[in-house]
Formats: sequence, structure tokens, C-alpha cells
Amino acid sequence: MKIKIVTPHADNARAWAAALGSDDSMSFDVSLDVQPLHQVNVLVNGSRPELVVVETTTPRDLAELQRLAGAHPELEYVLVGNDLTPEFLLGAMRVGVREVLPAPASAEAVRSAVTRLAHKRAPQAATPARRGEVVGFVSCKGGSGATFVAANVAHILAAGGQRSVALIDLNLQFGDAALFVTSTPPVSSVAEVARHIQRLDSELLRSAMAQVSPGLWVLAAPEDPGLATDVKPQHVHEILALARTMFDIVVVDLGRSISAVTLDALDASDRLYVVLQLTLPFIRDGRRLRDVFRTLDYPSRKVHWVVNRHQKSGDITLEDVKRTLDVEQLLIVPNQYEVVASSVNQGVPVDRLAPGSAVARALRELAAGIAPAPAKRSGGWLGGLLRASA
Ligand SMILES: Nc1ncnc2c1ncn2[C@@H]1O[C@H](COP(=O)(O)OP(=O)(O)OP(=O)(O)O)[C@@H](O)[C@H]1O
Ligand SMILES: [Mg+2]
Repeated sequence: MKIKIVTPHADNARAWAAALGSDDSMSFDVSLDVQPLHQVNVLVNGSRPELVVVETTTPRDLAELQRLAGAHPELEYVLVGNDLTPEFLLGAMRVGVREVLPAPASAEAVRSAVTRLAHKRAPQAATPARRGEVVGFVSCKGGSGATFVAANVAHILAAGGQRSVALIDLNLQFGDAALFVTSTPPVSSVAEVARHIQRLDSELLRSAMAQVSPGLWVLAAPEDPGLATDVKPQHVHEILALARTMFDIVVVDLGRSISAVTLDALDASDRLYVVLQLTLPFIRDGRRLRDVFRTLDYPSRKVHWVVNRHQKSGDITLEDVKRTLDVEQLLIVPNQYEVVASSVNQGVPVDRLAPGSAVARALRELAAGIAPAPAKRSGGWLGGLLRASA
């Protein structure tokens, strides 16, 4: 595979080229251009690369990348940048860049991003790995109930062990998803897995997760908010890719921040559920998120909207929200303070604590939209009787 590295930093160019040259899983033909991107003609005379590793250091470079990627969507791009603001990331993703590394990027980070893209480009093996669905939950604003909904839906999807479900908390700074489904504090975390990413395999991932009920496994956020920065986009990428080979469904709590880490997970999600409430601040932020998703070209069937804590008496109606967000359908979870508070305080999912409650019913309906409830395995004496007579 032909690769071109474009960066104004000679040391980086050399280090990255050396790492790519020594990769033993693939053969790379690497050329270097030690200049800022806006001064380079990437596609000159026959040396047309298939993949470009580009380090942008100025807005001019980013504009040039935008132009290049717009004109040549057939190439793959790995972008190294030092300004990973949401605007920058969105700009990059909008033009089709799918691997973004924060500067300074180590040779190893560049090598693994390049091999990942190269593998994606290579023809798929005849027997694809089992592929579980990744379902992301996003909060429009703090306190919307995204974690409550995500954790409870994960529990329902596991259906008492009839499915295997992972609940992964990517709310890295103040994540608390585990405690919505168990009262036992988690022993390990996403940061712990990231720390050992070199030897990531299903055994390592499984050992960092806690089984909280039949079929439901949780990978918690780090207890120490300071460890959040140890988790890089490529770690999340690898964790999710592996998790979907191990579980039927991977539920991810993405919280409310747009960062390099969450953008990667948003992209990896097959479906997104955005949780909001019927008040203006939530709806305003909902509209912003909707614009972000449009910018990223997510098809509207990927994004689902959940109105949580719904009560009929509010000033703002569901029709208002549909109009503002320009969506046809909303999923509704009613406000039920006592049931939810005792579920959250005890770390027991509502479907177990109060299965007959309106909120449990709404969550089961939401889960059924992701995967239909499996038929009960043992239907009690009647089921047994019917089976016996069949
Ligand atoms: N349907 C509901 N009815 C009543 N109370 C609810 C409902 N959903 C959530 N709550 C309450 O709202 C609180 C906040 O929910 P949750 O932690 O899930 O929000 P979040 O969006 O994840 O917030 P953060 O942005 O802090 O992560 C919960 O502790 C719960 O008590
Ligand atoms: Mg939360």
C-alpha cells in the first residue's frame, strides 16, 4: 500500500516512516513530504498514494485537507492535529477523515491508525467475525437521564441471560453507569483497559468487566476523573471493535461531551439514542446535536430521540419538539420520581424492581426497538404443558 506522510516536522516524518516500514502485518511503500500540507501537491506525477498521513498545524492546512479530501474521497486520511476542538474534529470528519490523532502522535499511534485503515480497505475475510450491534446513548444536557435509560435498556436487552450485552461507560470523567445496575463498586475501568491496550484481547476485556446480572457485563468509567485523559480515541476504537465480536449488543453511555473519544464512538454506533427532556435548554441543545449529526451525514434512521421524564401537563408539547428537531418520531419515557429514585439508589434496574411500572414498560418498548424481546425460555407450568403437548 502506498502511503504519503505530510508534516512540517522532519522528526515526526522520519519516526512515522520507520514505524510503518517495520510493520510486519502489512507492506507499506512510504514517501515523505516535510512541508506544511498547503504547500504540497499530494497527488504529483504517478506517486499517487492510497493513504495520506497528514499533520495539520494551521487552519490553512485544514482548509487544504478539506479541499483534498473533498476532491479525492477514494483516498484514506489519518489526521494528526494539535487543535482537537469539536469544531476542528467535525471539520475533519465532515470531509471523510476517520482517524484523528492528537499531536504529538507517537510512531506507534500512527502505525496502528494506518494498519487499521489498511485492514478496513483490504477485502473482508470469507467468514466475518460475529458482529454485535453498538448502541450509543447521548445526553442533550446534564441530568437528562441518558445513563438511567442506557443502563436500564442494557439490562432489559440481556433478557435474563438470553442475550449477552455489554454496558460500556464512556462518560470518562464522571461516569456512573455501573451503579444504575449494581450496588457493587466496579473493580476495573475503561482507563485500566486503555493502560494495557497492547495486550488487549477478549480475556483482558472480560476480566475488566463486572457481570452484574445474567447476560449483562459492565465496563465502568474510571473512579478517578483525572484518568479520563489516559483514554485515547484509538483505545475506544479497539475496545468497541473487540466488544462487538464478544457480545450480541454493546450499549455505550456517551454522556454529553463531544470529544475525539466520543466522536469515534458516535461513528462506531449503529444506532444513537439522544435523551432530552421537555424544557427549552434541552431542546436547544437537542437542535445543536441534530445539526452535528447532519454534518456528520448520519442517516436519520441512525438517530432516535427520547423524551425522558415526560409529563402531560408541560408547556412544551411533543409536537413542538418534533417540529423543532424536524423528526417524525419521539420515544417517550414517563416521569416517575419514586420508582426511578429507588431504582437508582439501590442500583437495581426498574424492570426488576417495579416491572409493572409505566417507566419499566416504556423502557421495555424502547429496548424492543433495538432487539425484540426473546420468547420466554420457561413459560412456567403453562408453557411446559404446551411444549409437552406440542
Ligand atoms: N424517567 C424518570 N423519572 C424520574 N426520574 C428520573 C427519570 N429518569 C432519570 N431520572 C432521575 O434523573 C437523575 C439523573 O439521571 P442520569 O444520571 O441518568 O442523567 P444523565 O443524563 O446521565 O446525567 P449526566 O449528564 O450527569 O451523566 C437520575 O438519578 C434519576 O433520579
Ligand atoms: Mg450520565
